[in-house]
Amino acid sequence: MTLEELEAARKKSLEETAAATDAAATEALRVKYTGRNGLIPALVKGMKDVPKEERPAFGKAVQAWRAEIEAALAAKSAASPAAAAGEIDSSMPGDWFRPGAEHPLSRVIEDTARIFARLGFTVADGPDIENRFNNFTALNTPAHHPSIDRTDTFWLAEDALLRTQTSPVQIRTMMANKPPVRVICPGRTYRRDTTDATHSANFHQIEGLYVDVKPVSLADLKSTLAYFAREMMGPDIGVRFRPHFFPFTEPSVEVDFTCHVCRGKGCAVCKQSGWIEIAGAGMVDPRVFKHVGYDPESVSGYAFGFGVERIAMIKYGIPDIRWLYENDLRFLSQFG
Ligand code: DAH
Repeated sequence: MTLEELEAARKKSLEETAAATDAAATEALRVKYTGRNGLIPALVKGMKDVPKEERPAFGKAVQAWRAEIEAALAAKSAASPAAAAGEIDSSMPGDWFRPGAEHPLSRVIEDTARIFARLGFTVADGPDIENRFNNFTALNTPAHHPSIDRTDTFWLAEDALLRTQTSPVQIRTMMANKPPVRVICPGRTYRRDTTDATHSANFHQIEGLYVDVKPVSLADLKSTLAYFAREMMGPDIGVRFRPHFFPFTEPSVEVDFTCHVCRGKGCAVCKQSGWIEIAGAGMVDPRVFKHVGYDPESVSGYAFGFGVERIAMIKYGIPDIRWLYENDLRFLSQFG
């Protein structure tokens, strides 16, 4: 091999190294050029056949080439040690990991907690298994009330039931704290309902309670829920109150939000009314204050409660409550 041929081979080897895209190709070049039976060792062995006067220059060029190609191959391998070790073939498509997504129910609960935190509300918690006093008696629900019936409530023992609402957390909060109290209480609730597109025997509610030693009014309740409606559903969403009855509030109201689909114009979702029923609420009944040891003459407050599933279904246009529990990735991954 002449010096010119050597130079051409050197150039070619560096071009091949630059073009190598995976560990196998890099390894093949190492074998071809610097391996035991490779071209460069063969040239070193053949030095004795090179004319004597050319030998020093030829030897120098071969050694320089070896250093150069070794460095180029090493640089290729260092770019991906795993590739160099043959563990990764970077020419193959990579593994694809589906990123996790927050469940729509968790999202509604988290958003609600964030919105009410700005108004000074903290999050309170209570157990799923309650006693008769917290779930019914202290909430001024008389013993003959239909909701206490075995057909509506999951009774576990004489004085143990799966809570039918998050309202018992109001009782626990007031019994454990002096006023003022300002809490929201998200949690699981249970009713002996037959499951269909809008009912589930296990669902979630968020309770709210504000009690203070200074006068609290229905107007305070309305402005708080109006703020929540705007923050949760959009800036042009309003609230309206309709008279209702709950044993633990007096007066009691049902709370509607402007239908966020038609923005109040009337559509199939709101049955042309422009409003969607969201929550129950009212001013805490004096009898409830008595049950928790508060003086009804010196405190006042409001309470409200709504279904998490209902908000999620309305906000995200989910037509069937069961989709929230099936953990179908085609559904869940839409909330990424
Ligand atoms: N607990 C009621 C229910 O499950 C909802 C509710 C209504 C909660 C009025 C309240 C309230 O705190 O004041 O239907």
